[in-house]
Amino acid sequence: MEEYMRRAIVLAKRGTGNVAPNPLVGAVIVKDGEIIGEGWHRRYGDLHAERHALANVKKSPKGAIMFVTLEPCCHTGKQPPCTEALVEAGISEVYIGSRDPNPLVSGKGVAFLKEHGIIVHEDFLREECDEINTVFFHYIKDKTPYVVMKYAMTIDGKIATATDKSKWITSEVAREHVHKKRGIYTAIMVGSNTVLYDDPMLNCRIEGGRDPVRIVVDSKLVTPIDSKLVKTAKDIRTIICTASDDGDLIKQYESHDVEIFKCSLKEGHIDLKEMLEKLGADGIDSIYVEGGAGLHSAMLKDRLYNKAEIYISPKIFGGINAKTPVGGEGVDDPIDAFDIHNVNVTRIGDDFLFEGDF
Ligand SMILES: NC(=O)c1ccc[n+]([C@@H]2O[C@H](COP(=O)([O-])OP(=O)(O)OC[C@H]3O[C@@H](n4cnc5c(N)ncnc54)[C@H](OP(=O)(O)O)[C@@H]3O)[C@@H](O)[C@H]2O)c1
Repeated sequence: MEEYMRRAIVLAKRGTGNVAPNPLVGAVIVKDGEIIGEGWHRRYGDLHAERHALANVKKSPKGAIMFVTLEPCCHTGKQPPCTEALVEAGISEVYIGSRDPNPLVSGKGVAFLKEHGIIVHEDFLREECDEINTVFFHYIKDKTPYVVMKYAMTIDGKIATATDKSKWITSEVAREHVHKKRGIYTAIMVGSNTVLYDDPMLNCRIEGGRDPVRIVVDSKLVTPIDSKLVKTAKDIRTIICTASDDGDLIKQYESHDVEIFKCSLKEGHIDLKEMLEKLGADGIDSIYVEGGAGLHSAMLKDRLYNKAEIYISPKIFGGINAKTPVGGEGVDDPIDAFDIHNVNVTRIGDDFLFEGDF
């Protein structure tokens, strides 16, 4: 039985980068020990996994068992309820992985199935199913984006040389890995100095990749009008979060299709917590924050990060004035450190990816 749910998990992951802010969901239909249909939620607004699997069956699903990674929905959103499709198709038994925290569904999907005579098994490989939807679970509960702290540093802890050059720290294969990540998260965010120093594109440069929404934290509107971000904003959604009221400057950005999100000031900088609430209300469910040191320290101080993804390269830059990944004042005592849990380390070529949860 477990192999069918594991297959449903593999299918669910195929929707990665395309379903936000919806969950990743996979479904497998089994009859007489044979898989007769498979489906997954492929794109936001498209068929849900259960309906996709039912549309693909190679024989009648009457009396079949369905394995689905998330509780089937029982409300009409962009798609009609999946629970009705299961009943209509004559599915007799359902194995469900994750519970749906969406108040519109939570428990109601299961109740509907049971009321219609379907045998329901809940929490089947729940932990493995939950793992694929960390972003969805966070966003539906908090209404703010799931935020990932990302940087690349040398083995001596530098994110740039003493002359502020940072191209490149990691190898090509690690940078390709970063581009894949950029395609997974809905948005990418940087501080205003990073735009001034690096003039980055912040796009997803892998074949078939999806460009994330680009966000700059820029309280005083110092982002150059001739920066790559502004010049390409007609093609890739770009947002500047600012507290500036400079109407003429704002008009110039807007003429390039840059969206201006007005935010409040807190101690002379953007109120980052309020900014995330605004971005969440705009449908942005996840953000990959690529630094630099000023933005990372401010986000950490306000405890706004959910996860760390840190690339470490076996190089030494040296230089007392070369930037380290986290600026600000730091903590006074090791006991006050920002701890990272559930650590996982992956080797990528000669570099290492260190991941963990805050
Ligand atoms: N290796 C890497 O992974 C990597 C990645 C990115 C950048 N870099 C390097 O890092 C350097 C730039 O880093 P940086 O530290 O100078 O600048 P930065 O982080 O790019 O910019 C500073 C940002 O922090 C914000 N900020 C500062 N204090 C704040 C607070 N208390 N509350 C809210 N926001 C606050 C600033 O907002 P305001 O608008 O209010 O000033 C600004 O957006 C460059 O050399 C770049 O090449 C390296």
